This record gives sequence, structure tokens and C-alpha cells, in this order.
Amino acid sequence: MVFLSNAISDSRLAEEGECEGEASEMVYSTTVYGSRWSDQPIPRFELPEDEMPPQVAYKLIKDDLALDSKPTLNLASFVTTYMEEEAEKLMAENISKNFIDFEEYPMSVEIQNRCVNIIARLFHAPVDNPSQEAMGVSTVGSSEAIMLAVLAMKRRWQEQRRARGLSTDKPNLIMGSNVQVCWEKACRYFDVEESYVYCSEGQYTLLPEKAVELVDENTIGICAVNDLLLAKKALTGVEIPIHVDAASGGFVAPFVKPDLLWDFRLPLVKSINVSGHKYGLCYPGIGWAIWRSSKYLPKDLVFNINYLGADQASFTLNFSKGASHVIAQYYILIRLGRKGFTSIMGNITRHADRLAKMLEDTGRFEILSERNGKGLPLVAFRFKHNEKMNYDERLTGTIFTKFDLATRLRERGWVVPAYTMAPHAEHIKLLRVVLREDFTHVRCELLLKDIKMALSLLDKMDRSAIQTMRSASQRWTLLKHATLAFKGSKNKTEKTYGVC
Ligand SMILES: Cc1ncc(COP(=O)(O)O)c(C=O)c1O
Repeated sequence: MVFLSNAISDSRLAEEGECEGEASEMVYSTTVYGSRWSDQPIPRFELPEDEMPPQVAYKLIKDDLALDSKPTLNLASFVTTYMEEEAEKLMAENISKNFIDFEEYPMSVEIQNRCVNIIARLFHAPVDNPSQEAMGVSTVGSSEAIMLAVLAMKRRWQEQRRARGLSTDKPNLIMGSNVQVCWEKACRYFDVEESYVYCSEGQYTLLPEKAVELVDENTIGICAVNDLLLAKKALTGVEIPIHVDAASGGFVAPFVKPDLLWDFRLPLVKSINVSGHKYGLCYPGIGWAIWRSSKYLPKDLVFNINYLGADQASFTLNFSKGASHVIAQYYILIRLGRKGFTSIMGNITRHADRLAKMLEDTGRFEILSERNGKGLPLVAFRFKHNEKMNYDERLTGTIFTKFDLATRLRERGWVVPAYTMAPHAEHIKLLRVVLREDFTHVRCELLLKDIKMALSLLDKMDRSAIQTMRSASQRWTLLKHATLAFKGSKNKTEKTYGVC
């Protein structure tokens, strides 16, 4: 196994060697760039013997980070890149609180519980009265929430099977082959067999009939397909719980398509995850796992521990974590309310439709994503006819690929990822732009302008110029090194984030 931390370019390491000199001969000053630290390689392997002044450490690290892409121009990610100053202030003021210290920080726990109650009701969890506490927990993101939900489904299935004297050796989970990689992780980490429904051309989401065909006595859960599972339950008496992975959609659908039935209104939906750091509009580090009721969270998974003098219930993978993200989520919920979420989600949904239309109008692209709020606020698109010529669009007169387009856009700062669809539809290659809160009308127009500019530049390049551009970009892309670092790893997975 090669670690990601090794993935920094070899060329940079070579440069470090060239910087060495006799410190005694040098004249150093108290300014950051006149200091001896700026004349030395930055520590990469060993803890330095000596201290360095805070402003030097700050500047050296900040300068390194300047080579990262700008988060606001990263159109690959759903993760929030803008929060109001008041939210940032609350986060900074609470950054040193360890959320797990319930006794010491009871208000942080109370704030988590308020968030759980609000989100559970947003997802229509059945409650007996307005002040009933809902069942859920804050997590680091949807991945942790999904791990917890898979554990709960597995344990509940085991309890039911054991009570009937049946074996519990071979639990399986049914999902679409387009699931996010955390589902594969959950299955492998917790010994659950992965049972996939594959995508095909034109069918990029889980096909309910195929999913239900895979159900057997060892199925601990499934994603979606309520009606067919209800019919199966009526026929077999076996109830298969549904977990909804609402990582991105959980904070979009309730405001853009409030009548869409996807949540606890469907009787077989027993748990839902959502990422607070995606359309929950918080900075990265927060997610939520919500259960229909306490019945679906087996008690022996919840640890009651006595820590720092207090009894506390814990159902998380990690023990310690910061409280500030939980607090930021509560800020967003009460600051925006239904009206605020509706206007933000409405805006970005319209921007996505506008961008899709503008891309289509160039005559070069085919749009693969949904419109009018039927899907997430994103635009997935591909060159017309690209599969036929393996991206080499001789048919339409061009010789460049979606990767070349992505490279040219990167020169302007835009990160527009190029993807491959899920297994069995991997011949479909696409580009994807995710629209976040800070993707305004103006930004939409600027992006299109740059896409058109990139296309016209690429159109003018001949094959050898394109080849030169490709090798130059390969040399300089740090991401490429990150990918290479994992070459040879046994569990390499080519997950797609295609159209979801
Ligand atoms: C559908 C889906 N599920 C789960 C995840 C994992 O979420 P997180 O990054 O919050 O752990 C993602 C992340 O992109 C996702 O898109």
C-alpha cells in the first residue's frame, strides 16, 4: 500500500535538494521570506528539532495551499464552499469543543438533538406529538451515517433471524451499481455481501423490478422501491427495510419537489442519511443518520459509557469530533427556515436548467441529467456521438476529448470533472457540473463563455498540439500523482458519480 501523503510530485522533491546551502554563510532577516526557514526545504518526513515563528509557519503552509484549486470554482463537488460570516464566527468560537464531552458541553448535544428533530420532521418521520424526540445522530458526513445505518439493518436482521433459529452467516444488501463508494466500504467493512442492480444505456438509476428480483431471506436492506417491496411483503410476509441515501437530495427535494414521495411517508423507509455539508449548506464535516423510530436502531449498537463523570449514549464510529459543525448546521436550519432553503434551491435549480439549455444550444453537447427539479441541481453532459469514436470526434470534425476540454477549463481555474458511468454502462463518458449555492447566474454565464472559448481553442489545435497539451498537463497535475499513488492497491474501485 502506498499512502496518499507520498503522492506529492517527485519533481518537487528533486527541487528541494537544489536549495541546500551553508546556513552560516547566509544573511537572514526577521521577515518571512528573508528568514532561514524560507531558505530551507519544508519538513516532510521528520519532526523539526527547532521551532519556527507562527507567521513563518502560517505563510509557508498558506503558500503551499495556493496550489490547490479554488473551492468556489470546484464544480465537481457537492460540498458547501460558502457560509455566512455569522456561521463562520459561531464555528470559530466553538472550534475547541469536543462534541463527545456531553457533560461539559450539554448545549452542543441539545443543539444536535434540535437538528435531528427538525431534519426528521422535514423527512416526515412519524411522531406522536409535536415535542416527541426523533431518532437520529450527527455524523462526520453521509459515509459515517450510511455505515451506521448498514450496521443497524444488519443487526436487526440478525436479531430477527436468531429469534427464528435461522442462520445469520450471509447477509446481503441490494443497491444500484451507481452507489457511492461508501456503500461498498460499508459492505466490506461489516461483512455484508454486495448485491448489485446494474445500469445500462438510458437506465442510470436502480431499476425497481430488478432490485426486487434480487431479494432473498438474507437481504438486510435495499435502496428505494417501496411499492414492489410492499407487494413482496404481502406475498411472503418478509419486510425488507429501505434505506434512502439522500446525501445530496435530502435538502433539495423537500423544497423543490415537496410532493415527491421519497422519505418516511413511504412505510418501508426505515432510515435516511443526508450530508449537512452538501445541500445542508454547511462546510465539510457534518452528516445525519435518521431512523423512522427507535425500533429500527438495535439497542446493543448504542454504547452507554461513563466518561468524564457522565453516562452518555454513543452511536458513532469515531469517539471525538468537533462540535462546531453541528452548531453551524443548527444556524443554517434556523437562519434559513423553509423559505430560505426554498429560494436557494429554487435559484440553483433554475441555474442548472439554464446552463443545460446553453450547453445544448452550442450544438456540441447532449444533456444526460434531469431538468425542472426532477434530479439534483447538476448538469451532466457529453459530446454528441462521443462513444462511437472513443471521444475522438472525427465524425463531428474535432479530435479532442472531454478530458482535453476539462484541462483547458482548468487553466482558467474551473474544475469540471470528466467521469465514466457505473459498471455495465462504463462506455458512457460524461462531464458534470454541480451547482452549489454560490453558483450564481453570472457564474453560469462566465462558465459557458469559458467553455465556448476552450472549444474554439481546441478546434484550432492539430493532433500533435493536443498531444503536447496532454503530456504537459499530465506532468503538472498533482491529482495525477494522487491517483498513481494507489496504483497496485488491491481494492482499487472506479466509482462514478455520474447522473444520480
Ligand atoms: C449519493 C452519495 N452517498 C454518499 C456520499 C458520501 O457522502 P459524504 O461525503 O458526506 O460522506 C456521497 C458523496 O458524494 C453521495 O453522493
